Amino acid sequence: MIFARDIYTLDNHEMVLNDPDKIDKIRADIKAGDTYIFKQVIPQETLSKIRNYLTQIGSNSLPNYRAIERNCPNFHRLNRWDSRAYVKGCFHQFVFFPWNEDVFDLFNLCRPVYQMKNLLSGLSANKFLGKTPEDDCTARLAFQFYPAGLGGLNKHTDPVDSHQLTVPTMMLSQKGVDFHQGGAYVEPENGDRIFLDDFCGWGDVVYFNAQILHGVERIDPDVQPDWLSFQGRWMLLFAVNKLSSNKTISDSVDLEIKEKS
Ligand SMILES: [Fe+2]
Repeated sequence: MIFARDIYTLDNHEMVLNDPDKIDKIRADIKAGDTYIFKQVIPQETLSKIRNYLTQIGSNSLPNYRAIERNCPNFHRLNRWDSRAYVKGCFHQFVFFPWNEDVFDLFNLCRPVYQMKNLLSGLSANKFLGKTPEDDCTARLAFQFYPAGLGGLNKHTDPVDSHQLTVPTMMLSQKGVDFHQGGAYVEPENGDRIFLDDFCGWGDVVYFNAQILHGVERIDPDVQPDWLSFQGRWMLLFAVNKLSSNKTISDSVDLEIKEKS
């Protein structure tokens, strides 16, 4: 078991991306349980436009679940503590794949974060970012809205395998403004919760070892829930997932719905 250790905050994402020695140091630290937060990797102004766009889509079209398959359309879906999921959660999720064009050119915008994730994982910088899957895996961007009064994700670990060491996340909201209680946490050895959202704001990217126990504590439990208000916690997950047909590496437990056997 890996436990959360220290948190380091840096503001030079691009410089680190081009510094192999620094990458090696951060990789070793993350393997041992440290968390790295890079400030303002993507401008708030851009992220605010994306959040508004997703709010419009979420308000005006039906959510639907889709399995991760080659040429899968971009989609959004709603998860209300779905009993079929390995990790139970409550959120509205908007999913994008590299083979689909989108108005924000999201995979170009997010390329530096995937490059950092890949290099920290010991992979070539642009792995999984092509228009077709590699090793039966694909990059997948998942924006997630956790509504005040309802949103959360149970404690879990994510698979660390040949395809990743860390699953980066980025805030598209601000604790203390968009919500006040709960949020993302990692667990140190003493069993406490370190709330990452206390250290992060819009555009800040968090890298931690996916084997550390983590989750999202219920957002503002005393607030009357309203999915369509889109008030609460917004974040972006920089995932690499196996295709649903790939049985060679561990399942992604975080977000996929799987039928219980
Ligand atoms: Fe996770």
